[in-house]
Amino acid sequence: MEDFRNEYCMHTATCGQLNVTDVNQEVVLTGWAWHTRDHGGLIFIDLRDRDGYTQIVVDPDCVSEEDFHKAEHLGREYVLKVAGRVRERDPEAVNPNMVTGEIEVLASAIEVLNTSVTPPFSIEDGIETDETTRMKWRYLDLRRPEMLAALKLRHTVAQSMRQALNERGFLEIETPILANSTPEGARDYIVPSRPNPGNFYALPQSPQQFKQMLMVGGVERYYQIARCFRDEDLRADRQPEFTQVDIEMSFVQGDDVMDMMEGVMAETLSAVGVTEVTFPLQRMQYSEAMDKYGNDRPDVRFGMLLHDITDIVKDTGFKVFASVAQSGGVVKAINAKGAGDWSRGEVEKLASIAEANGAKGMAWVAFTTDGQEKSPIKKFFTDEEWAQLKAEMEVEPGDLLLFAADKPAIANAVLSALRLHMADVLDIPREGHSLLWVVNFPMFRYDEDEKKYAAEHHPFTLVRDEDWDGLEEHPLEAGSYSYDLVMDGFEVGGGTIRIHNAEEQRRILRIVGLTDEEIDHKFGHLIRALELGAPPHGGIALGLDRLVMLLGHKSSIRDVIAFPKTSSASDPMTGAPSEVTARQLKEVSLRPL
Ligand code: AMO
Ligand code: AMP
Repeated sequence: MEDFRNEYCMHTATCGQLNVTDVNQEVVLTGWAWHTRDHGGLIFIDLRDRDGYTQIVVDPDCVSEEDFHKAEHLGREYVLKVAGRVRERDPEAVNPNMVTGEIEVLASAIEVLNTSVTPPFSIEDGIETDETTRMKWRYLDLRRPEMLAALKLRHTVAQSMRQALNERGFLEIETPILANSTPEGARDYIVPSRPNPGNFYALPQSPQQFKQMLMVGGVERYYQIARCFRDEDLRADRQPEFTQVDIEMSFVQGDDVMDMMEGVMAETLSAVGVTEVTFPLQRMQYSEAMDKYGNDRPDVRFGMLLHDITDIVKDTGFKVFASVAQSGGVVKAINAKGAGDWSRGEVEKLASIAEANGAKGMAWVAFTTDGQEKSPIKKFFTDEEWAQLKAEMEVEPGDLLLFAADKPAIANAVLSALRLHMADVLDIPREGHSLLWVVNFPMFRYDEDEKKYAAEHHPFTLVRDEDWDGLEEHPLEAGSYSYDLVMDGFEVGGGTIRIHNAEEQRRILRIVGLTDEEIDHKFGHLIRALELGAPPHGGIALGLDRLVMLLGHKSSIRDVIAFPKTSSASDPMTGAPSEVTARQLKEVSLRPL
């Protein structure tokens, strides 16, 4: 690509390219007037383009009077074409932080290709302009070097993945956007069909059903950089439309998919200069992730693990702990080393984090560096229980223990949130990237709102061989052939081996609450395909936005998406979503509000 950057265009070099080997060359550069400085007689312009910036010197002795006048009256972000000669900078003017910092271009002619009104914010890295303003003028925001760098990184990641998959025999195939609902756990975006009044397409939450159909269609290895649409509550790592590197393979088991994915990841990480991840990756059981980290996307770059102390406290005089322990709940704790000298007020503020995650309270014990033990619950413990607790938690002076007593799901959620919060406030180092698999998720969870079982991944996931017997009686005990790729505490990918037997597929759909009529109506096409010689198959989808966000050290996927949406799923630049005319509604048989 780089070879062609100076062809088919107005310039002979980019603004990020020239160095001392180019001295005395006559060049033409194009770009934006970034910073302009008038040094009494000489004018300096930092001319910026996608590749960097070059210092232009405008000397009245070397340009026409008219061109010098232009240089004197440049506004920010004027678009320029500059012809000139590359020359070495004076030694004291060399800028070692800049690729082009040893040279400058002495202008011989300046053409203003376009003017610009004053931009609403500075085109600089690290600006604190609010995000909605940046999104409203996204084309200006994208001119900032850090934003262009993020787009380049995204390009490199996408291209390396494509290349690695191509080399492994995958075919890139597009699947429909106007489709039927694919359940991935979110609400659908629906689109009315004009020729079919009262009928709607659903934009795909993922290409899941189509990629399975491709396997039945004999494709064997498929991938697609696929746009997915999910109407769900947005967070820093969620957008209503986002991109998956979507993959499916035939005649495989879970290990095959994971091994293949590791090869692709290794090549991609190396393409973007990440060297600290070693392969093969750890494969952690889901149960271990929940026990030790309290969630299924553990950040394993630091300790502060969750300890189960239910046995130690089951008969304790602190009634909250004893009653939870005796009624099937768990009592768990983390040790936040370095917070032992926090004041009671500071510690108790943490309870709001616990409560936001469902806790009824947050007991704590502080071990100060000068040897005191402060706690609202110590008085309830026997000496023996206290000693056991300290031994289990490996207590030293300077430690702060935080407790959660509840149902396992709540205790885990509370301590997982506290663990991450404490790591942030205690500045626990989490340098570099870590990658691991979390495998063997439960097949189902119980959805308290809907009062029914729901698939933990999706209902096309294969139940473990040993768990089919008695599945209908004990759905929550069944495991699945499933694997999530976790990076730095984020789920960057997830996949499963699929059911390829029609009757097994029916059983799962019945357990998640569908009647046989509903199964035929919604998933008849899938069931029929499974009856017609479907091969064993499985796959995975990587969240491209999340992966690039982490590789680019960004805190939101919005920073790696060219045109993202706000938290209310709107686009301040184009004004989408917007009203349509009554006529447009009528055409699709809808009535105005
Ligand atoms: P899943 O729902 O786990 O699996 O999605 C795969 C990956 O996509 C990313 N992701 C998102 N990224 C940004 N915004 C969102 N709203 C969002 N939702 C998900 C995550 C996630 O790991 N069809 C299955 C895959 C399969 O079984 O092969 C699927 O979509 O990084
Ligand atoms: P109480 O006896 O209710 O004043 O509680 C004593 C301490 O235990 C307080 O610090 C509470 O926040 C804490 N606590 C109460 N319920 C729980 C719970 N379910 N898990 C952890 N700590 C709790």
